[in-house]
Amino acid sequence: MIKLTSTEPGHISTETLIIPVCPDHDLYRSPVIRSLARQALGLKTFQGEKGEDLSLYQPADIKAKRLLFVGLGRHSDLTPERFRQAAGQGIRLSQHAAKGDAVLMVPDGDQDDSLAREDLLAAMAEGALLSNHCPNNYKSEHKIQALKSIRLHTDTAMARKSQTALKRIDAICRGTLQARDWINQPANEKTPDQLARRMAQAARRHGVKATILDEKKLQRLKMGALLAVGAGSAHPPRLLILEYTPPKARGTIALVGKGVTFDAGGLNMKPTGSIELMKIDMAGAAAVAASVIAIAEIGARQRVVGVIPLAENMVSGNAFRPGDIVRAYNGRTIEIGNTDAEGRLILADALAYAAKHYRPQTMIDMATLTGACVVALGEKIAGLFSPDDHLRDIVEQSGCDVHERCWPMPLPEDYQELLKSDLADMRNIGPGRWGGAIVAALFLSEFTGKTRWAHIDIAGPAYHKKALPYGQPGATGFGVRLLCRTIASLQGEKR
Ligand code: BES
Ligand code: ZN
Ligand code: ZN
Repeated sequence: MIKLTSTEPGHISTETLIIPVCPDHDLYRSPVIRSLARQALGLKTFQGEKGEDLSLYQPADIKAKRLLFVGLGRHSDLTPERFRQAAGQGIRLSQHAAKGDAVLMVPDGDQDDSLAREDLLAAMAEGALLSNHCPNNYKSEHKIQALKSIRLHTDTAMARKSQTALKRIDAICRGTLQARDWINQPANEKTPDQLARRMAQAARRHGVKATILDEKKLQRLKMGALLAVGAGSAHPPRLLILEYTPPKARGTIALVGKGVTFDAGGLNMKPTGSIELMKIDMAGAAAVAASVIAIAEIGARQRVVGVIPLAENMVSGNAFRPGDIVRAYNGRTIEIGNTDAEGRLILADALAYAAKHYRPQTMIDMATLTGACVVALGEKIAGLFSPDDHLRDIVEQSGCDVHERCWPMPLPEDYQELLKSDLADMRNIGPGRWGGAIVAALFLSEFTGKTRWAHIDIAGPAYHKKALPYGQPGATGFGVRLLCRTIASLQGEKR
């Protein structure tokens, strides 16, 4: 948990006092901090440029044991994201083998600042919380520990004003970290049933109703696509349903998340080089589950339902085959062209189920769906698809706000014929390689009925091999902040 403090900066007792600075602008009203920042900037080794840092130990006039300056770069270039990154950098550099603490100075701002102070404080809180997380460690010795306490320093009026916002941010960031933990967990510790139970337990702790449908129930419901994908695994599939219902709910939003706990590719098995990381193929499920839980903590006007299909895509004598024809929950038949295009199959059943059962006003799915989307947009930007321009704009803008970027992609009607099958209603892949992310999205669109829907392909940003400014190497938890912001924006929507 992050707290606010308004103690006079010189009197703050902490291990590390983190001070973000610009090379060309005074950011603090406190004369002590102002003069220390100027002294730091007077050194040749520190210019206050983006990414730079400087430590001073046992400084005079200051109770903190260490001052840590982090560079923000030029004042005119400041954005909320710069503050997230600087806060994240400061917290990371404050961590060590024992559970320490740090205080972050929030700039006071002045008249000519284009950034609102509350936005800046919110961004710093996010960066700090998200970087204060050490992924579950399977090593016997833990080197770096998360800080046990983080405080943000601001004046008393601002501190009072920011309490509620901070609670929201805390819940959403905890959700992001929870999603990261679930994703980072190895596949031998998260079979569909194990993951369903783990997510259900976390949800129930927050008053979210959780239901797990097992393979027998899925058979009775005729979820032929989800069952086919799970058929090759010793660990049968599940459908997890999470429901947050506020008093006097106004409408329903359904979130659907791809939960392939390991994607070996099935009989179209993935080669070495592509298979190793496929424990992350449930990142959409993790983002959806964590979002519903965070929403339950912060509240929403709508009912928010998470529909999460979980399956392991493996190879065995029971595995589904290329050429098989399966019947999805909505009755449509699908010819399997490639067993590695499994995400769209489990989503097909889940989308159809969510649309029919909950009749939501809005349905959003999130999935590590295609390598093609990573080719198109790289590892930091998600693909965004929606036939509804307004919904697409809301998601895109939410992505900008929280810096979980989404780029709008087309759903051209005339590409739909790429999914034609000679034998069944459709095939699960197109005839060639091109436009793979679009073809996958068009496939999903066959299962959404008339429901307003958006699809977010997070195959790129779900995971990062190297550390990011406010994330350790590994799962990013991408999507939790995006979905929470999108839901908040949808509440303000006039419809
Ligand atoms: N899980 C993969 C997509 C993926 C790729 C996720 C890279 C994360 C990183 C998905 O199930 C898949 O295998 N897609 C195939 C589809 C193809 C067979 C039409 C792909 O993208 O190659
Ligand atoms: Zn696959
Ligand atoms: Zn997959």
